Amino acid sequence: MQEKQTSAGQGLLSALAESRALTDGLFRVVREEAFYDRPIPERHRIAFYFGHLEAFDWNLIGTRVLGLDSLHPGFDKLFAFGIDPVGGGLPTDQPSDWPARAEIERYNERVRKTLDESLAKVSFSRPAQPLLEDGYILNVAVEHRLMHAGTLAYMLHQLPVERKLRQPAAPAPAAASQPQRMVEIPAGTATLGRPRHDGFGWDNEFDVQTVSVPRFAMDVHNVTNSQFLEFMAAGGYEDQSLWTPADWEWRSSQGISHPFFWNRKQDQWFYRGMFEEVPLPLQDPVYVSYAEAAAYACWKGKELPTEAQFHRAAYGTPEGTEREYPWGDEPPGSEHGNFDFRRWDPTPAGAFPAGRSAFGIVDLVGNGYEWTRTIFGPLPGFQPFPFYPGYSANFFDGQHYVMKGGEPRTAARLLRRSFRNWFQPHYPYVYATFRCVEN
Ligand code: AVJ
Ligand code: FE
Repeated sequence: MQEKQTSAGQGLLSALAESRALTDGLFRVVREEAFYDRPIPERHRIAFYFGHLEAFDWNLIGTRVLGLDSLHPGFDKLFAFGIDPVGGGLPTDQPSDWPARAEIERYNERVRKTLDESLAKVSFSRPAQPLLEDGYILNVAVEHRLMHAGTLAYMLHQLPVERKLRQPAAPAPAAASQPQRMVEIPAGTATLGRPRHDGFGWDNEFDVQTVSVPRFAMDVHNVTNSQFLEFMAAGGYEDQSLWTPADWEWRSSQGISHPFFWNRKQDQWFYRGMFEEVPLPLQDPVYVSYAEAAAYACWKGKELPTEAQFHRAAYGTPEGTEREYPWGDEPPGSEHGNFDFRRWDPTPAGAFPAGRSAFGIVDLVGNGYEWTRTIFGPLPGFQPFPFYPGYSANFFDGQHYVMKGGEPRTAARLLRRSFRNWFQPHYPYVYATFRCVEN
């Protein structure tokens, strides 16, 4: 028992080292001159995130758990929290308001060194502090960093290609064009959330909720760029009846007439990829905001799935059992989908048949988070983490929707069934796609 606990802690220390290497690699995408750029107007400059990952670990582990003296109180505070753009205007800070890169680098190095030296000495099996038991708090640091590896990727996506250094990627598998079709999901139950004290989860993943889901039909594939072009050709962006009043107001005030990831040159549509613009890949899932996804579904006379419907379709089986992943209980592998940092951009819909669910639905995990029509909120029994009370609760404001699944830059360990992501309906920057249901 003692040994097992120790190895859990050791495994998490390795996971922390790996996740650091991963985010270090991500900052190598940014050319020196772009370090203070703000690729997304609503968010912080890149320099903030460079300091944030270490400040977060320090504030949580260094200060809160280990009670160490601060190495730099100013930076601990400056880099403590990001911004969520709901409400307030756009940030107006200037590059000169931020510290020099070398100073942040020095802070980062000292934080890592001090944390590593202290963590090497603590006992995870006879913890001096409950958050150290089995290395528990390291899960928070690792997963926080991995989530930022995903959100930083979509942020850097918006950095002009000439301000980035191209990084390697696995080739996209080929897939024959597959027509959209729906499959019937019989009535059954879906288990949301997870039981306490059985593996790590964020506060919003607790407790377990069993939902009874009436029959419905769901798209086998994500809606592709090609299918979305049909919506555009049919005048979907100009037809107010397909949009809610708030979505229509957003569309109109922002002058939106196509997905944010698209660019039109002369008569041709292009997809703005991570490192190059390419003629629109017609078979790839379309990346769109919730508002655009919902308008498309309405045009089809359909709806976006609820969170429970997604669970039922992804993890349920005709026999009534539930599984850990759409393909079964094996851990995620490269044959199951486009995730875990193998690529920067989507792959054609249906390219990973081995990842299909028991109901034959593909790409439920990876290749783009999937919008649900469920407003992000607490599961019954929700309790905020005392060491990070605002992590989820700050977003229980009725203005965020649950997203499920994962995207090309989602770490394998974030693909667990209970993991929930969330964004605002008018946020067009995320790697988010969708599929429709018929009720
Ligand atoms: C869970 C991806 C919505 O980036 O806003 C990172 C994760 N929270 N640092 C976000 C997060 C604080 C969060 N999402
Ligand atoms: Fe963060």
